[in-house]
Amino acid sequence: MAFIFSSMAGSISKLTSFTILLLFLLFSFIFSSTEAYDALDPNGNITIKWDVIGWAPDGYVAVVTMFNFQQYRHIQAPGWTLGWTWAKKEVVWSMLGGQTTEQGDCSRFKGNIPHCCKKDPTVVDLLPGTPYNQQIANCCKGGVINSWAQDPANAASSFQISVGAAGTTNKTVRVPKNFTLKAPGPGYTCGPAKIVKPTRFVTPDQRRVTQAMMTWNVTCTYSQFLSQKTPTCCVSLSSFYNETIVPCPTCTCGCQNNITMPGSCVEGDSPYLASAIAGGKNSYTPLVQCTTHMCPIRVHWHVKLNYKEYWRVKITVTNFNYRMNYTQWNLVVQHPNFDNLTKIFSFNYKSLSPYAAINDTAMLWGVKFYNDLLMQAGPLGNVQSELLLRKDKATFTFDKGWAFPRRIYFNGDNCVMPPPDAYPWLPNASSRPIISLLHPIMTFLASLAFLLAYA
Ligand SMILES: *[C@@H]1O[C@H](CO)[C@@H](O)[C@H](O)[C@H]1NC(C)=O
Ligand SMILES: *[C@@H]1O[C@H](CO)[C@@H](O)[C@H](O)[C@H]1NC(C)=O
Ligand SMILES: *[C@@H]1O[C@H](CO)[C@@H](O)[C@H](O)[C@H]1NC(C)=O
Ligand SMILES: *[C@@H]1O[C@H](CO)[C@@H](O)[C@H](O)[C@H]1NC(C)=O
Ligand SMILES: *[C@@H]1O[C@H](CO)[C@@H](O)[C@H](O)[C@H]1NC(C)=O
Ligand SMILES: *[C@@H]1O[C@H](CO)[C@@H](O)[C@H](O)[C@H]1NC(C)=O
Ligand SMILES: *[C@@H]1O[C@H](CO)[C@@H](O)[C@H](O)[C@H]1NC(C)=O
Ligand SMILES: *[C@@H]1O[C@H](CO)[C@@H](O)[C@H](O)[C@H]1NC(C)=O
Ligand SMILES: *[C@@H]1O[C@H](CO)[C@@H](O)[C@H](O)[C@H]1NC(C)=O
Ligand SMILES: *[C@@H]1O[C@H](CO)[C@@H](O)[C@H](O)[C@H]1NC(C)=O
Repeated sequence: MAFIFSSMAGSISKLTSFTILLLFLLFSFIFSSTEAYDALDPNGNITIKWDVIGWAPDGYVAVVTMFNFQQYRHIQAPGWTLGWTWAKKEVVWSMLGGQTTEQGDCSRFKGNIPHCCKKDPTVVDLLPGTPYNQQIANCCKGGVINSWAQDPANAASSFQISVGAAGTTNKTVRVPKNFTLKAPGPGYTCGPAKIVKPTRFVTPDQRRVTQAMMTWNVTCTYSQFLSQKTPTCCVSLSSFYNETIVPCPTCTCGCQNNITMPGSCVEGDSPYLASAIAGGKNSYTPLVQCTTHMCPIRVHWHVKLNYKEYWRVKITVTNFNYRMNYTQWNLVVQHPNFDNLTKIFSFNYKSLSPYAAINDTAMLWGVKFYNDLLMQAGPLGNVQSELLLRKDKATFTFDKGWAFPRRIYFNGDNCVMPPPDAYPWLPNASSRPIISLLHPIMTFLASLAFLLAYA
């Protein structure tokens, strides 16, 4: 009797956490298409901090720093661009660690000509190798910013700006409006600048603290929906118990169509390959190898081995894009067995637990100087790893696609999964796909809720 009760309690708590998971998957699905909210990184944002470090005769000098507080979304080459609209007739006299892309019309100035007179300047980071006297701390990385989980020491980017024709006290200065952050494409939405408590700076020797004259913060959040219309990544599946390899869904990221879109992909053995790559040397639009899915990135999940206490998965990430070396790439993978991950080979691992009760999400990324660079399409364009997971007797099964991931992100963007009814089956297993599990569970929970309500 006691055994029955304890095992029932166990399965109820499992079911409840499973429902919470389902509910949040459902909610995140509903919201992901409309709002800049990521269920796996609910506080993820880029904060732009504008510290006025000194007043000048006609304006001020400020250090502007962008902190990437996102766990797994980074900004890769060609880097960020930051724009805003001045509140009045401000100009940029000079900059360190960054530059505006356009000077604008400075004809009203004689003698000293400002760096930029535009009402809506756009700033980019300077490139690595910038002369020392034009640098400040955290600058000059070509606009590349790493993610908070992966490399917090390189998750910020700064420039210094001298602003003229601006207020010269904290009462007269006006904060800029309409911040726009591009990475470099669309995707981020920035809120209004908020005046906050002035930042305190501690000297490197920790012996003196100085303070900004005035500080304002701007928070920018990301939405995949705003960033692009088509997916960029897909998932394929296989297992030791079934010889079927379930490919990425056809046309996930586009269709091979010679008539309407000639040249949208190249064959790996095409004699024109080299010239096609060279032709778009500075283009960041993907040039993909021809596949049925046409995605720049494919993640393959192979259920490799079954031991008594453990099971083993092999993950392979393949780059089909001839125009991109992915530096500092990362994966986010959700699977209910990640709470018992025992060993991971040749990738870095961090548990992401936005909801402390559910420890089912892992962030994986490459080992520095070994496989942190996912090379352009070709023989070297892949990275792989194996995971060893400990079975939890109560939940573990190869049945109904349980051994496959619930979702995968590559560099923060969702990878499209094959439909559940296509997953490899166990030999002679029932043909019910994983989705059909939901129905009895939902029914059970509904009746449970009913019972509890009337208990
Ligand atoms: C931005 O991220 C930081 C760090 O995670 C967090 O403390 C802050 O509340 C976030 N800001 C917003 C507006 O979400
Ligand atoms: C401006 O500076 C004065 C002191 O110089 C301070 O009392 C006041 O709070 C500051 N106002 C703002 C908005 O920072
Ligand atoms: C800021 O952007 C909004 C919408 O894009 C626009 O309506 C508004 O005029 C802009 N404000 C300024 C000061 O440019
Ligand atoms: C402003 O941004 C800085 C740096 O991101 C952060 O430390 C500080 O807490 C923020 N202030 C507020 C009030 O959000
Ligand atoms: C697409 O067209 C090129 C020539 O324009 C041809 O060489 C190639 O075989 C065609 N590919 C397909 C899949 O039809
Ligand atoms: C990727 O890196 C390799 C080796 O460093 C280099 O030869 C190649 O040109 C790079 N490709 C791109 C698209 O940057
Ligand atoms: C999640 O599971 C991993 C692997 O078992 C463990 O290292 C980590 O501490 C767990 N995290 C939490 C928040 O429970
Ligand atoms: C799996 O992890 C859960 C939570 O971390 C723990 O309660 C359970 O005992 C683990 N199971 C095994 C077989 O290690
Ligand atoms: C392997 O899985 C596929 C579904 O993807 C199924 O059609 C096939 O019958 C399975 N093979 C065996 C031997 O069960
Ligand atoms: C189970 O599968 C094996 C091989 O796939 C087959 O020979 C056998 O007939 C199947 N049994 C049933 C009951 O379907």
